[in-house]
Parts: sequence; C-alpha cells; structure tokens
Amino acid sequence: MNELRAYFMREIPGVDAFLAAEADKLDGLVREVARHVLLSGGKRIRPMLTILFARALGHKADNALPIACALEMLHTATLLHDDVLDEAVTRRGKSSAHVRFGVTETILAGDVLLALANKLGADYDIPRLNALLARGIMATADGEIRELAHTKSPTVDRGVYMDIIIGKTAKLIETACRCGAALASGERALEDLAGDYGLNLGIAFQLVDDALDYTVSEDEMGKPAGGDLREGKMTLPLILHLESLAPEKAAELLCALREKRLTVAQAEGIVHDVREKGLAEKTREAAAGYINTAIKMLETLPVSPEREVLAQAAEYVLTRRK
Ligand code: IPE
Ligand code: IPE
Ligand code: MG
Ligand code: MG
Repeated sequence: MNELRAYFMREIPGVDAFLAAEADKLDGLVREVARHVLLSGGKRIRPMLTILFARALGHKADNALPIACALEMLHTATLLHDDVLDEAVTRRGKSSAHVRFGVTETILAGDVLLALANKLGADYDIPRLNALLARGIMATADGEIRELAHTKSPTVDRGVYMDIIIGKTAKLIETACRCGAALASGERALEDLAGDYGLNLGIAFQLVDDALDYTVSEDEMGKPAGGDLREGKMTLPLILHLESLAPEKAAELLCALREKRLTVAQAEGIVHDVREKGLAEKTREAAAGYINTAIKMLETLPVSPEREVLAQAAEYVLTRRK
C-alpha cells in the first residue's frame, strides 16, 4: 500500500487547494456551506480515481484537476442531500450541514455544487465528459430514490439491495474512472475498461461501508455507528441476519422494521447478533469478489505507476477499517 499512500499524499493537496479556491468564489451562505463540507476532509477517492485513470491511459497535460474536483463536488453535493434525506446529524466528524446551516440552505448549496461540477466539466469542450457527468448524477439520484422507497416498505431481497447500491454509490465511482479515461483518450473500449473497474470497485466500496456500519464506532467513521439500522435500511448484514433466523422470527423482525417500532434494546440486540455471527465479515467476503473483478480489469493496461496504485486502491477499499 506504500505507493498508494505516497501517491495520495502527493496529489491530495492540489485537489484540496482547487476545491478551496472554487468554494471561495461562491457567494455568501453557499460559500459557508460549501467550505464546511468540502474542506472537512473526506478520503478524496473519486477525484484520485479520475487522475489515476487519466495518467494510466497516457494523459500528459496538466489539466486533470478541474474534472477530478468536479467528481468530488458531485459526491459532496450528494452527501449534503443524503444527510437531509437520512436525517443524519454528523458527517466527516462534524455537524452535518443541514444541522448547522438549515435544510433549505443545504439543499440549495448542494444544487450549486452540482451545477459547478457540470460547469467545470463543460469547460473542457469534450462533450463526452458532460454526458458522463449527467449520467452519473442521474444514476445517483435514482439510487437514492429507490432506497427511500425501499426503506418505506423493506423486503429481504438481495437483487433490490444490489440495484440500490449500484445506483447510489457505484455509478458515481464508475463515472470518476470513466471521466479520467475520457480525458486521456476518445477510445470507448478504454473508457469501458475504466468503467468496469470503477463499477466493481464502487459496489465493493458500499458493501464494505455497510459492513463497517455494524462494526465501527462513530469516532473512527466520522458518522454515527449503527446508523443504517436506525434509518431502517435493509443492507447486506441485515439481510444475512434475517436469512439466518427461523421464518417466524424473521417475519416478526421485518414487521417491526416496516412499522418503525424497533426499540433501542432490540436494535442493540441485532447489532450484537450481526457481529457475533460474523455477518459484517461475510459482507466483506461478498465485496472481495467485486474487488477481484476490478483488479482483473487492470491487467490489459500498460504498466505504469498509476496501474499499481489502482491495484492498491482496490485492496484498500476491501481492507479499510474506516
Ligand atoms: C460516503 O462516501 C458515502 C458512501 C458512498 C458510503 P465516502 O466514504 O467516500 O465519504 P468521504 O468522501 O470519505 O467523506
Ligand atoms: C451513500 O449513502 C450514497 C450517497 C450519499 C449518495 P448512505 O446514506 O448509505 O451513506 P452514509 O452512511 O450517509 O455515508
Ligand atoms: Mg446517509
Ligand atoms: Mg442515504
């Protein structure tokens, strides 16, 4: 993982400086909201993937930062909106923007970041970049809406769960990879390869996130632990738990989840059972299959430092503890 760490340490200051400069150009309260969330850390995985794929495919010009940062802005906008939808009060170790600045202000600031990301993409005059950004935003919103509907009447259905995580998370990570490739080359086969890596990495990323939700403390994650169960989300650890129960027990629990009448003690019991039965680890095992597929995609790329970092990034997504 040494190359990965060194690469991120070298490149992230540039990403941070670009984001800070763009945030400073915004007006009034929008600037405050944007600065609050954009400059509060974050792993910067999406912009790094854009930069890595551009360079892995031979892009030499020094102009990848705006499109890379556009991906981080899109991601940040979805976090602003997501915390309103999920009524989540902590993000990146700080109060969520809607708690600090108000819901209306936060939604509008999210909209501004979406628009700004599109503008940064449009400034390249490469129509493919605009198409990719638009599709990424559509897919993310679609995933969030599907999840909202599913949370209202949850079912134990892995297919529905996969469609949700592909939409709300994997597609934007795929978009980050595709944008890097599209900047480097007009060749669609190369972009598809980057996209396949990104989609598989993105699925694994959300699976691991859903595992961590049951095992890691708020201090480590920067967002509340056990949040998915509290929010009524049917993620893979909970699906595995329900599948492991006797049918009448599972039906009873599903009913309590649907009617939002899980007591604190019941919720704590479920978290305990998920941990005890190793279901977070089982969820990570499911992620491992997607990571292997992602790494396979890299085999046909020419050898470069970036190819190695992309392989290490895939390992990191699988093994991360926060
Ligand atoms: C959080 O994404 C939202 C999910 C898709 C799980 P990240 O875990 O990449 O969040 P930051 O950018 O590092 O805060
Ligand atoms: C992640 O949503 C995807 C988006 C933000 C679009 P979640 O609701 O699962 O992620 P966290 O737990 O708030 O980061
Ligand atoms: Mg959320
Ligand atoms: Mg959500």
